[in-house]
Amino acid sequence: MKVTVSRKAHFNAAHRLYRPDWDDTKNEAVFGKCSNPNYHGHNYELIVSVKGEIDPETGFVMDVKVLKDLICSEVEDAFDHKNLNLEVPEFKNLNPTAENIVVVIWKKLRKHIKTTLDLEVVLYETPRNFVKYAGE
Ligand code: NI
Repeated sequence: MKVTVSRKAHFNAAHRLYRPDWDDTKNEAVFGKCSNPNYHGHNYELIVSVKGEIDPETGFVMDVKVLKDLICSEVEDAFDHKNLNLEVPEFKNLNPTAENIVVVIWKKLRKHIKTTLDLEVVLYETPRNFVKYAGE
């Protein structure tokens, strides 16, 4: 019997989507407003879910306080109010699309979560646009 435990969190961050090997016209054509050379912000929302067996001793799949603290240290402290392109080392050479951000978050969290638990991260870049990664 497996149960999924989820925690919501958010961070505000700025980014610019572009490839340095493309000129501004091509970047604008592919990435649109997200390619603005002066950067722009998003209110990112995320839902982190862990799935596994209930520990008979505690009744928890994972202590949600531990999950909360982990999201705080690995995601919020690292990304909140940052310029992702300039201030977050993972995006120095990686376009900070929602797809790439969700994979980076998943990898950062995966290292700290028991291997017996499945991990899934959903990231909202806008209320209507969201991506999901579960390690495949
Ligand atoms: Ni954007």
